[in-house]
Formats: sequence, C-alpha cells, structure tokens
Amino acid sequence: MADSTESSAARPVRVGIVSVSDRAYRGIYEDRGGPAVRAYLDDVLATPWVAVARVIPDEVDVIRDTLVELVDDARCCLVITTGGTGPAPRDVTPEATAAVLDKELDGFGEAMRAVSRPNVPTAILSRQTAGVRGSALIVNLPGSPKAVRECLDAVFAAVPDCVDLIGGPRLDTDPSRVKAHRPH
Ligand code: MTE
Repeated sequence: MADSTESSAARPVRVGIVSVSDRAYRGIYEDRGGPAVRAYLDDVLATPWVAVARVIPDEVDVIRDTLVELVDDARCCLVITTGGTGPAPRDVTPEATAAVLDKELDGFGEAMRAVSRPNVPTAILSRQTAGVRGSALIVNLPGSPKAVRECLDAVFAAVPDCVDLIGGPRLDTDPSRVKAHRPH
C-alpha cells in the first residue's frame, strides 16, 4: 500500500514497448516500429513515463514470456507490441498475446482495422488484438511506423479510461493531441 502511494506521486509510469521481428532481433535491419511507438507516446502522454523496451524474435514462447515479464515483474500499466500481426507463418504476436490475457478487448482491433482500411486495403490482414492482464492493458500494432501512428490515433482516447478501470495509474494526455474520454 505504502508503495503504491509513493509510486503515484514520484515515479514515472512504465510502458512496455515490444518490437516483434526476427530481422530486427538479428540486426538484419533497424527496428522502426518500437521507436515510432516511443515517439508517439512522447508526443501524446502528459504523464511522466519511461519505456521498458524489448526487441524479440517472432517466437510464441518468447513473446508470451516477454509480455508476462513486462506486466508481472516490470509492472508496466500499458504494453504496446509492434509487428507480427499478419498472416505469414512466423506472424504469431496475436496468439502469444491472447495466451496471456485475462480479458480480450476486441474493439481495439476492430477500430484500428476500420481506421486503416480506407487507405490501406491490406489493413484487413492484421490480426492485431488487445486486452487486459491484471492491471495492465496490452495492445498489438502492425510493424510499420505509419501503421503505429494511425492505429494508436484510432484507439488512444480510450486508453486512459481503460487503465483507470483495471486499477492502473492515472494517464493524462496532451488534449491538443488526443483528448482522453473519461466517462467513469
Ligand atoms: N495498418 C495500417 N494502418 N497501415 C499499414 O501500412 N499494413 C498492413 C496491416 N495493417 C498496415 C496496416 C499489412 S500490409 C499487414 S501484412 C498487416 O498489417 C500486418 O503487419 P505486421 O505483420 O507487420 O504486424
């Protein structure tokens, strides 16, 4: 109890950023999805925050273990993955995510696909999902930096209220960028 009082006053909130890509993991190319998530959150979040970043291969077990570590051990209130949501054999981020969720929130994937589809016909290929594990919200995004921004813009107004409802810390946004909807 004493710990939670202290943390809300003094410590920045922790956000997990997980880049899922065999090639970025092996250093064959530079990770661009993770930095795009970080830049988006720097732009939008008014609450002090720190990133807990990981670059991992497209392996179900590794993705699952990383999500569990970031939520249960690193105490991230929000974990955003990028990459591995498509239909290719190595794309397994949604399966790994579903395996660690207490509750799936289908609306996130629906909203992200809906906003992307008019400009990106292949947006329907992303199986991205989201949901709750303990007091954390986990959200999948596709790997492209452009997709990261478009998809986060589609859902971020609902993120602070979701984190409130599951017992996480208060997240404030810059209202000129994203106006958080807080009906509760
Ligand atoms: N969504 C947006 N907004 N922009 C995009 O460029 N790319 C699509 C889709 N969703 C895309 C998008 C494509 S081409 C694929 S294959 C899927 O996301 C999955 O991408 P991933 O495997 O990198 O996660």
